[in-house]
Amino acid sequence: MDISTLLMECSLVAMMLYAAYGVIYRLYLSPIAHFPGRKLAALTFWYEFYFDVIKRGSYVWEIQKMHETYGPIVRINPYELHVADADFIDRLYPTVAKNVEKWSWSAGMFGSTAMTFGTVGHTLHRRRRAAFSNFFSTTSVRRLQPVIQSRIDVLCERLSEKMDTGEPVNMVHAYSALTQDVITEYCFSNCRNVLEMKDFSPWYYELVQKPSELSHMIKQFPHMLTILNLLPDWWVRATNPLFSKLRAQQLEYVSQVQSILSYHDETGTKSHSTVFHSLRDDDGLPLSEKSLPRLVMEAQSLVGAGTLTSTHMLSMTTYHVLMNPPILSKLMAQLEQALPDASTPCSLQKLEQIPYLSAVINEGLRISYGSIHRLQRVHPDNALTFRNWTIPPGTPVGMSSLHMHNDPAIFPEPRRFDPSRWMGPEKEMRQRHLFNFGRGTRQCVGMNLAQAEFHMTLATIFRKFGTKMQLYDTVRERDVDVKHDFFVTNPSLDSRGLFLKNPSTFTLSLVEGSTVFSNSIMHAAPTGALTLSGIVIGDVYAHQISKQLLEQGREIKRLLLLDSPRP
Ligand code: HEM
Ligand SMILES: *[C@@H]1O[C@H](CO)[C@@H](O)[C@H](O)[C@H]1NC(C)=O
Repeated sequence: MDISTLLMECSLVAMMLYAAYGVIYRLYLSPIAHFPGRKLAALTFWYEFYFDVIKRGSYVWEIQKMHETYGPIVRINPYELHVADADFIDRLYPTVAKNVEKWSWSAGMFGSTAMTFGTVGHTLHRRRRAAFSNFFSTTSVRRLQPVIQSRIDVLCERLSEKMDTGEPVNMVHAYSALTQDVITEYCFSNCRNVLEMKDFSPWYYELVQKPSELSHMIKQFPHMLTILNLLPDWWVRATNPLFSKLRAQQLEYVSQVQSILSYHDETGTKSHSTVFHSLRDDDGLPLSEKSLPRLVMEAQSLVGAGTLTSTHMLSMTTYHVLMNPPILSKLMAQLEQALPDASTPCSLQKLEQIPYLSAVINEGLRISYGSIHRLQRVHPDNALTFRNWTIPPGTPVGMSSLHMHNDPAIFPEPRRFDPSRWMGPEKEMRQRHLFNFGRGTRQCVGMNLAQAEFHMTLATIFRKFGTKMQLYDTVRERDVDVKHDFFVTNPSLDSRGLFLKNPSTFTLSLVEGSTVFSNSIMHAAPTGALTLSGIVIGDVYAHQISKQLLEQGREIKRLLLLDSPRP
């Protein structure tokens, strides 16, 4: 036997021994080997990969099944435990400045650990967060109410226009435009003005929604992004338009932050101070913390965090209120009382005192989960006790809003949207089970801003359009219920959004050469005022429509001719 064969055989044996040791270690010797759970999950990360990458964000439901089988604490991968018991929240996520870290394996799931959200270490996190947290305090948010209100006013103008033409509005895109405009104005004093774009520019929603799914893959393969970034532009443009647009957007962030860092963009500071001007001018932050790449990551993370979560909460709440006429009328009655004149905006302080509005918002938060992914924490210095279990120091442990918000002992009939849960004496107790924003020192920093957006937007939309808009082509199972965990919630991938429409109009799309009118459309049309919109090419068609309508005894109030074809 020659020496090279011998060497090869030796290394093969060594590899096999190493693998066998890995198996034995993970199953029997690991400090968390005695915790219950599926053996396959304890053995390999591929188990989680299967559910979160292949089955697209579904591990959280598999974890729920594990809890049903194995009890309130389970091991869900080679290193990590998961707890389903809200009483544990305050120990896992302490609010006092105790040494608590994120888990490095998952902290980078949004592409970096340079932003506050992804920061692993406790001390560095405190410093980064302190540099901007005062921007999101209750006081700051109250001061910046006019920024939010002016964007809501634009949203209302746009909605009124769409209602006049009877065109269905995709509220997911509308709310995404609103929240994106608010957060970009807030951060850079350079509002993106998505609300003014055609159909609220669905691309801007996709640019935050699509990458959220990628987070599962990046968690498992952090170098994937580095490789993707090496691909040449022409290749990306030809093969993946989304990734190409993401790149373009990244460049926008770079130039935005660059112009602030180089003092070229001082316009913002005149109207209101902004997050990034203030990060630049913060003497407490070392220069290394003010580098362009870090601040670009921070910018991206703030815009992403400030858009997707609030959008889903607003859309889901809008759906459930409109689906429940008694809830809608109760809400509208209280709004009419607090805002006698629908066109005069009302202060946030006053809105926060409308009891039923707060109840609707709490129930909207509950049913929309916020972040549904487990939020892991590591306590490096001390063991945690959970019932009769001792969790060794350094073990990542997570909890998810899915389990807490659906607990029938706390929220009977969890699938029912029922704001009255928040009107009685159990309110305080239930509030402790709301986990949308996480808890403790890493709790969502944008919470006050999000709450302001919810109060101001929902009050305005329902006060102005509550009885004028109806759900259109929207199905709870497909378009509203949470079907995927992409860190934040996501409805079924078949969903096209949440559509509202003015019920006293209907849309008619006519293409040249098609039958101008059919009886089925006539039947679908409600009585009363009738507005037609769509692609009406030439006066001949308009004339034919009017004639047919008159023959059927309909009164034509107004015939709208749009000559720009829709895509
Ligand atoms: C419905 C709305 C929102 C929900 C449900 C939500 C949810 C969350 C959650 C669960 C966390 C904690 C993550 C963890 O523990 O690992 C978080 C952190 C964060 N959120 Fe939000 N968020 C919302 C709105 C916003 C807004 C409007 C902003 C805008 C600034 C924002 C910015 C952040 C930031 C910067 C962090 C990281 C905080 C830190 O690590 O110290 N969020 N958010
Ligand atoms: C804790 O109690 C449960 C049942 O009550 C038992 O199955 C489990 O083995 C106990 N754990 C420890 C570490 O003793």
